[in-house]
Order: sequence, then structure tokens, then C-alpha cells
Amino acid sequence: MISTPLTESLGLRYPICSAGMARVAQSDLVVAVSNAGGMGCLGGVSFMPDRLRDEIAKIKAGTDKPYAVNLLLPDSLTTEDEAQWAPVRELWNDLEPTDRARLAGVEALLTPGAVAGQVEVVLDAAPDAVVLTFATPDWFIEECRARGIKVVALVGSLGKAREAAAAGVDFIVAQGYEAGGHTGYVSTLTLVPAIIDAVEQPVLAAGGIADGRGLAAALSLGAAGVWVGTRFIASPEAYGHDAFKQRVLAGAAKDTTITFSYSGKRLRAFANEWTRRWEASGERSAGFPGQYAVASTRVETGYQDGDSEAGMMPAGQAVELVHEITPAGDIVRNMAEEAQRILHALAQQG
Ligand SMILES: Cc1cc2nc3c(=O)[nH]c(=O)nc-3n(C[C@H](O)[C@H](O)[C@H](O)COP(=O)(O)O)c2cc1C
Repeated sequence: MISTPLTESLGLRYPICSAGMARVAQSDLVVAVSNAGGMGCLGGVSFMPDRLRDEIAKIKAGTDKPYAVNLLLPDSLTTEDEAQWAPVRELWNDLEPTDRARLAGVEALLTPGAVAGQVEVVLDAAPDAVVLTFATPDWFIEECRARGIKVVALVGSLGKAREAAAAGVDFIVAQGYEAGGHTGYVSTLTLVPAIIDAVEQPVLAAGGIADGRGLAAALSLGAAGVWVGTRFIASPEAYGHDAFKQRVLAGAAKDTTITFSYSGKRLRAFANEWTRRWEASGERSAGFPGQYAVASTRVETGYQDGDSEAGMMPAGQAVELVHEITPAGDIVRNMAEEAQRILHALAQQG
């Protein structure tokens, strides 16, 4: 058994968390990971408040183990200032109703008040942890404190780690450039120890971790655990078309690219006809979150229809390490067992 500040604080068997991947990480995946002894994280940003409430209820019905929810709380999403929302609403209103209906997974990010609704649902449900990406507002941390919810900040740079640490979060996820989804500029191997040196909070490693070797390496760097996304796409419990999962199995790191074309922020996904056309056009992105409306149905086409040329399929360089679809609980157990074997063998040599 590997004991770290993460396992001790949250009562986990293993220091392994599945990432709160929008769309991909729904209740089935969270339940499987948490029941296996890791901590599953719901991709909360995908859901309008009522659906979010339902998903959390499904998690509670499926497990009594710790679980987390991911939210994005930058000012651009929490503001009630109508003028700030105007450009985003214009893009949204320009869409055909059929296209809007197919943007279910990002509707909350394009609708004034929806993120405030998500916050209400999450605070009411009081999960064991909330994982915040992009921003760690004081008001939200205070609300979590009052309810005994641990706050985890997901960051991609030393500067953001310092900000989150100063805001008083409980844990920091240091996410390297290799990662799938929104990502920064610094590799995991560099970022994790740099952040460990800079903050007092326990740090989890993310980006490029897909097996027990990655977990053992992260623990050797001083991390309190790992935060894993891409590996869990290739599980039966992950949401997404089978062609997306097969793309992960067949994919190589060089097939992924960093693109602003989907969300307006740097995002690692499989390169395809849309990302290439966007880069070639030289168009300026509409910024976050408006670019989701510009990318429109392409955001969902990958997950729903499995069309990797037309649709968004975020994935990290770890696709190089993923060769089979594996039940999420087995991914957790295999990763832990392999890491334990490696660390034991290294200790024997010492
Ligand atoms: C399909 C996909 C969707 C993601 N969606 C989110 C998200 O909604 N919120 C978030 O904070 N991170 C998101 N991420 C990033 C993950 O939280 C995580 O940091 C990353 O997957 C770790 O790197 P790895 O993919 O190499 O394991 C996403 C990643 C992927 C692959």
C-alpha cells in the first residue's frame, strides 16, 4: 500500500485520480475508479446544472467512496455582467438550433448563469473534493472550507501554482505539456519538482502518466499522487464513441497537436482536417469560451459520431502507452501494483 498525504487526507487506497475530463468522465467512470480505491473526478463542466445534479446522484448511488468534481471558475464564466457575455451570446445565437442542440457538452460554458448554477449544485452535494482549473477564486474556496470540501487546483505553470497556493487550496495538480486537453508549455518531469519546491501543499503529477512506471516516477519526484486522463479514455466506462477510443489505441504522440481552434485556449487533441484548416486560415480565435461556438458541432462530432477528421478528440502524448481498452478499476489496480513492484525492486537495489 502506498501512503501519501493524498491517500491519508482523502481516505484513498491508492494515490491515483482519474481526471475530470469534460464529456469523457461521467458518473460510470467516476464510480469505477472510486470503487477500485482511486478517486474518480466528474467532468462537471459538461453539464447544465440539472444534469450535473443527476450525475452526482448517480455517483452517490454507485459508490460510498471519495469522489471529486471538476469546475472551471474564471471570471469570464462566473460574471453576471451582460456586456461581457454579449460577444459569446452573439456567436451562440448565430448557430442553427440543430447545431446548438449538438453542443450539449459545452452549453454550460456558453450560457450566462449556468456556471453559477453548477456551483450551487456542487456546494449542495459537497463532494470530497472539487478540482478547479484556470482559476481559484477566494469566495469559492471559503464556501468549500465551510463544507469540508477539499480544493484541488489544476495548473500548468509555476506562476499559477504559486497563485493557487496563496489562495489556500489543499492540493495542486502540476500538469505537464504532454497532457491531453488544455495544457501549458512545461514538461511534467520539469514542472512537478519545480512546483513541489515552490509550494507547501502536496502536489499531484499529471501529463503523460498511463501506467505503474509513471506512478512510480511521479512518487520518486516527490508527488503525492497522479492525475490521469488519456489512459482512462480507453476504458469501457468512459463516455465517447468507440472510434475515439480506437483512435487512442492506434494513435502516436506525433498525431496530437496543440490547437486554439476548439476552445480559444491551448488544447492538445488529435490533429485533423479541422485543426489544420483552422491553422492555415490564420484566423484569430474568438477566445475562451466563444471559440466553442465558432467550432460549433465539431466539438461534439468526435465524442458522439467518432469522426476523428471533423470532430474534437482531446488526447495526450500518453496515447503512445495505451494499447488496450481496460476496465477503469483494472487500470487503477494495475497501475498501483506495477508501481509497488518497481519501487520495491529499486529499494532492494539500494
Ligand atoms: C478528453 C479530455 C478532456 C479533458 N477535459 C478536461 C476538463 O474538462 N477539465 C480539466 O480540468 N481538464 C481536462 N482535461 C485535462 C485532464 O484534466 C488532465 O490534466 C490530463 O488529461 C492529464 O494528462 P494525460 O492526458 O496525459 O493523462 C481533459 C483531458 C482529456 C484527454
